[in-house]
Amino acid sequence: MKALILVGGFGTRLRPLTFTKPKPLIELVDKPIIQRQIGALISIGVKEVILAVNTETEAIKNFVENIPEKKQVKITLSVEETPLGSGGPLALARKILWEKDEPETKPFFLLNSDVICDFPLEKMLIFHKKHQKEGTLLVTKVENPSKYGVVIHDDDGKVTRFVEKPTIYVGDEINAGVSILNLKVLNRIELRNLSMEREIFPKMAEEGQLFCFTINTFWMDIGQPLDYLRGVEMLLDFVQFPKMAKYENVCFDGEVFVGENVQIGEDSFIGPHVSIGDNVQIGCGVRLVNCVILSGSSINDFALVSNSIVGWDSLIGKWSRLENHCILGSSVGVADEVYLNDTIVLPNKQVSDSILNGKIIL
Ligand code: GTP
Ligand code: GTP
Repeated sequence: MKALILVGGFGTRLRPLTFTKPKPLIELVDKPIIQRQIGALISIGVKEVILAVNTETEAIKNFVENIPEKKQVKITLSVEETPLGSGGPLALARKILWEKDEPETKPFFLLNSDVICDFPLEKMLIFHKKHQKEGTLLVTKVENPSKYGVVIHDDDGKVTRFVEKPTIYVGDEINAGVSILNLKVLNRIELRNLSMEREIFPKMAEEGQLFCFTINTFWMDIGQPLDYLRGVEMLLDFVQFPKMAKYENVCFDGEVFVGENVQIGEDSFIGPHVSIGDNVQIGCGVRLVNCVILSGSSINDFALVSNSIVGWDSLIGKWSRLENHCILGSSVGVADEVYLNDTIVLPNKQVSDSILNGKIIL
């Protein structure tokens, strides 16, 4: 079986992190999100994954050449000259997806590259084969459905309506960004910038050709910084990560992930829900809580990082404090004894004054 992953978005809402890396390559705890997805696809026997790209092709190419999973699966890039949205890439990859003489009932997976969950792909496939219609969407309940595609369905899981980003409340079950489609669906899709969510899924629902499979376990779309933080928190809660190295006189509380070659000084207090990337240096007496420290960064003595993301290769000075959703791009420097509250800092900036009320530093 084959799968297509949409990796061509600009990821504007996940800036400043996406100034440095495309969204699918940003580490989510121990590995990039797309690597987690490819792993899930391999585990149920997918043999070819097509990555639909239109931006930052070089970064994705490098990733593909170096992923450990490479030997177990064929990875093909399908490159757009202009963005084709969430549907057009399927038309562009039609010849790769649909080989000569294959029946139109043969299914393939379609994934957005910014969602995580425990990928119940096998169960979804069994359900898809049972109902025998053209498509199956993974759906999940969320508190704020207005930013997603809302799915209305009957008791058998047959989708009766699909409403993308509804302005009035229609329901709270949403398209989770993972679907199984029969090759036949490709006949509905033209080669142009086209939205599956606005043009194809609503039509399939109207025609009774779309079913949904509900998950109640964890799910998150990590396309925005706070959702990314929440996604890391969920992964830490639900996934068993390998045991980390031992650290002397460091207090860990709750779920914490520590990457490779990380130094942590004495009397530091780490957790809960902290993810520390590879090659990070943490001084003495540091306090980290609900935060992500991306690889290569240094957090100096007695600093505190809470509910925030520190981008790659950044440096936080002694006794500094980052609180309430600070998002630092890569290679940011924060001087000693600086307090940042709810502040976004773009890559390569030096911050030497405290910011109490939230601000973007250009
Ligand atoms: P924002 O700029 O923050 O909206 O992010 P995004 O561009 O990634 O958009 P969105 O989160 O809505 O995209 C959902 C999925 O579709 C992601 O996996 C994107 O990578 C992918 N995607 C969005 N637009 C395109 C496109 O034009 N081509 C391809 N191949 N993928 C796309
Ligand atoms: P407040 O009384 O509200 O200031 O909080 P707290 O310090 O009692 O508790 P909090 O949950 O914020 O911190 C938990 C742990 O982190 C405690 O061991 C604190 O001593 C320590 N801590 C708090 N602020 C800092 C700081 O700025 N730097 C360092 N290194 N540790 C801190």
